[in-house]
Amino acid sequence: MSGGSPEAAAMKKQGLFITFEGGEGSGKSTQIKTIASLLSAELSADGHQPVTTREPGGTPEAEKIRHLLVHRDGGNWTPMAEILLFFAARNMHVEQLIKPALAAGNIVICDRFTDSTRAYQSYGHGIEPDIIESLVQLTLGGFEPDMTFILDIDSAAGLARSGKRLQAEQSGEDRFEALDIAFHEKLRHGYLEIAARYPERCHVIDAAQTPDAVTKDIMAIIGDALAGEGTATSGEGAAT
Ligand code: TMP
Repeated sequence: MSGGSPEAAAMKKQGLFITFEGGEGSGKSTQIKTIASLLSAELSADGHQPVTTREPGGTPEAEKIRHLLVHRDGGNWTPMAEILLFFAARNMHVEQLIKPALAAGNIVICDRFTDSTRAYQSYGHGIEPDIIESLVQLTLGGFEPDMTFILDIDSAAGLARSGKRLQAEQSGEDRFEALDIAFHEKLRHGYLEIAARYPERCHVIDAAQTPDAVTKDIMAIIGDALAGEGTATSGEGAAT
């Protein structure tokens, strides 16, 4: 894969929507930064930059909703209200940022997407899966990522990592991290079930490896997809 290559030219027409998922402390943010900068170097001659974004958030309105959801002082939402807020933010994000960027041929890399709702709200908090799937249809028209990396790590090890990070950042975004280890075990199990349910787009990566080894695994899969050997398709209703 190189800038100006046939693979990069193909990006112009289609775009590629990649999401990163995982429990707390799985190393998503570090990997997203590294992968984006590697792809940026690969695609620069073509004039296309990877677009990085996050959920909940990604647009001004969705970032306002993020504050309501992830800050301890953001409010005490009922489970249904919470889910509706996630999908309200996601609808704005998809319509205003993700789809236009894909239509322009970009690679969009998103930190969390609907699989987080499946893992946290359904496997974690017991929301009926059908409610989530109905909301995917209602608010997103069935829109799903082309490719999803699930960074898998032992829950205790992940929580220890994210505890250190939150202490250093003092961001106050710890509402979901504050839940107990049993909840995080449910999340991990949920993510592995999601991967089994959507095998054509989900790739489980061993996040206990060194960051460099994790990056290597991910880039190999993206490289295959860009070369036309992988799973990348259209994004619209790709995995239902
Ligand atoms: P972050 O820590 O990766 O920035 O994500 C913010 C928190 O929001 C994280 O604890 C997971 C949670 N979350 C959900 O519970 N459901 C969702 O759909 C999303 C996108 C995030």
